[in-house]
Amino acid sequence: MSAELIFVEDFKKEAKKKVSPFGWGYYSAGSVGEQTVHENCEAYKRWRFRPRLLRYVSEVDISTTVLGSNIPFPICIAPTAHHAIACAEGEVETAQAAESLGTGMALSIYSNRTMEEVAHQAPKGTKWCHVQIVRNRDLIKHYVKRAEKAGYNGFIVTIDQAVLGNRHHRYPDGTSFAFKQLHPSTNLLESTKHFMPHMNEIRAFLHLTDGTTEWDSLDWLRSITKLPIAVKGILTSEMALKAVEHKVDGIIVSNHGGRQLDGTFASIDSLPEVVKAVNGRCDVYFDGGIRKGTDIAKAIALGAKAVFVGRPILWGLICGGKEGAQRVLEILRDELVTTMQLLGVKSLDELQTTPDLVVHESYLFSKL
Ligand SMILES: Cc1cc2nc3c(=O)[nH]c(=O)nc-3n(C[C@H](O)[C@H](O)[C@H](O)COP(=O)(O)O)c2cc1C
Repeated sequence: MSAELIFVEDFKKEAKKKVSPFGWGYYSAGSVGEQTVHENCEAYKRWRFRPRLLRYVSEVDISTTVLGSNIPFPICIAPTAHHAIACAEGEVETAQAAESLGTGMALSIYSNRTMEEVAHQAPKGTKWCHVQIVRNRDLIKHYVKRAEKAGYNGFIVTIDQAVLGNRHHRYPDGTSFAFKQLHPSTNLLESTKHFMPHMNEIRAFLHLTDGTTEWDSLDWLRSITKLPIAVKGILTSEMALKAVEHKVDGIIVSNHGGRQLDGTFASIDSLPEVVKAVNGRCDVYFDGGIRKGTDIAKAIALGAKAVFVGRPILWGLICGGKEGAQRVLEILRDELVTTMQLLGVKSLDELQTTPDLVVHESYLFSKL
C-alpha cells in the first residue's frame, strides 16, 4: 500500500484507479440525482466549531460502548454489501481490520462471505448482523439463529429499503443495476437455500425488498432474540419516537449513504431532531458522509454516541485489503483525537455536553 495514502480522500482517489468501472460505480452510486450523496458530505460545512481553549487535553479518552460492547474509539464499520469486489477475502478482511483495532463491524446480509466464515476468521471482534425483516419469517428466524450461534453481538435492522432505491447510475454494460456482475451474497443464500432452494441472487435480493416490513416486525424480532437491536434509517422525530415505542436498544440516524430515497436532509442535519426526540431513551448512532475526524467530532457533539463509516472502508479494502481498511479507521481515529484537543475537550462526554461547541452556521447571525 502506498505511503502517500495519508487522508481518507487519498484512498478514494487511489481506489477509483484500482477497481473496475463496475466496482467503482456500484460502491459510489446513490439514487436518482445523487443530491443526498452529495449533501451528506457538504452539510458538515454548515456546522461550525466554537472551541474552548487553555484546557488540559494532553490525554484524551475516546472509548465508548456500542449496543453494550466496549470499543476503544467511537468509529465502527457500517454494513455494506459485496466486499469481494474490493478484495480477495471480502468481508473476512473487513472484520479482521475491525478486530485488529478492537472496534465493531456490521456485516451486511448481502455479504459475499457467510457470517459463520467471518466469525470463524475474526473470532475476537465485535460483530453485529445486518438484517431486513420480510414476510417469510422462517427465513429471517433461521438467519437470526445462525447469527446467535456464530456469536454475533446484536442486530442492525435496516428500515429504509422497503424497495430498492431508483439508481440512475449507468454501468459500462448499459444497465442501471448490474446484478449479473455481483458475486453471490452467500450470507443470505445460506439461509434462503433451506426455504427457497431455487432462489438465485436476484430473486433473493428482491425478496428482501418486498415492501412488507412494518413497525411490529421489530416486536417480532424482539420476541425471538435477546441480543440488542438497533434500527437503521431513522431520519425524523416521528420515526425516532416510533422506534423508542418499539423498545429498540439503539437508533442509527442514516439515509443509507444516499442510495435509497434521494432528496432527504443530509444525515448530519437530521441528527439533532432525532436526538431531541429520543431524549436519552435509547442510544443514538450515526452514519453518512464521514470522511474526516472533524465530521466525527461534529456528529458526536450533536448527540451521536458513535459513528459508522461506509464507503471509506470500501476504498481502504480496494487499496490494501485488511491493512487498507485498518489504516482508514486509524486515520479517522487519530484525526478525531486531534480535533478534540483543538476544541479543548478530553472525553466524548465533554464533547457532547459542552454547550454550543458545535453550532449551525446560522448561530452567529442569530446572536448579533
Ligand atoms: C456499496 C454500499 C453497499 C451498502 N449496503 C448496505 C446494506 O447491505 N445494508 C445497509 O443497511 N446499508 C448498506 N449501505 C449503506 C451503509 O450502511 C451506510 O448507511 C452508508 O454507506 C453511510 O454513508 P457513507 O458511505 O457516506 O459512509 C451500503 C452502502 C454502500 C456504499
